[in-house]
Amino acid sequence: SGRKPLAGKRALVTSGPTHEPIDPVRYIANRSSGKQGHAIAAALAALGADVTLVSGPTRLPDPPGCTVVAIETAREMLAACLAARDAAVPVDIAVCAAAVADWRVAGASDRKLKKDGGGPPALALTENPDILATLSQAGPRRPALVIGFAAETGDVVATATAKRARKGCDWIVANDVSLGTTTFGGTDNTVHIIRADGVESWPTMGKDAVGARLAEAIAAHVAD
Ligand code: PMT
Repeated sequence: SGRKPLAGKRALVTSGPTHEPIDPVRYIANRSSGKQGHAIAAALAALGADVTLVSGPTRLPDPPGCTVVAIETAREMLAACLAARDAAVPVDIAVCAAAVADWRVAGASDRKLKKDGGGPPALALTENPDILATLSQAGPRRPALVIGFAAETGDVVATATAKRARKGCDWIVANDVSLGTTTFGGTDNTVHIIRADGVESWPTMGKDAVGARLAEAIAAHVAD
């Protein structure tokens, strides 16, 4: 119902944590609930976009009107995002709100690790692919608008500004995830939208409201 300024546009959204296996029963994860990413996907769909949501494990229902691809690991998330990007209908807008594990366990065990008296196992980590940086790479399939998130502790805007340049995305949405904040897992978010031409700081609001306002900003940009 209502205005559909994103009708005819295809959007790809990532959401949630990734789970990186240690063995068949254990994994490394993080505190992302998927609330922010799912809210963005729902808001883009409400404005008429054709939305593919690639999500790690969450407790959330699928957002209405979205095609949901469930994954567990960062490598699965990358594969699903590249499949979406390279599909017949190109992706116009990509929003990477997922909290992707930067590292996975190198040589995860096929069998459950056991206490065998030899002391705790040493977990060697290896770097995961960067989905946002990959989607931001120049090329014929690059979405016209690529938006990343930056989860920071410390100088949020400065660190996120550097991250925007490093990853090559167009906008970055910075949020403070320091100890004592409930950005991870909570219902509210306080964000700074960093674009080439400056920073816009939004008041604290519900993640649904952040999603709605971001979708409106995207629609305004796409209409330009
Ligand atoms: O899920 P919620 O509980 O609602 O919490 C929301 C949130 C805090 C997870 C979300 O608002 C947020 O900040 N998401 C990004 C979390 C993160 O991992 O930030 P980062 O600064 O480490 O990563 C920067 C960007 O690169 C992000 O867009 C991330 O999706 C992307 N990335 C990171 C690593 C990687 N291997 N691949 C990526 O695509």
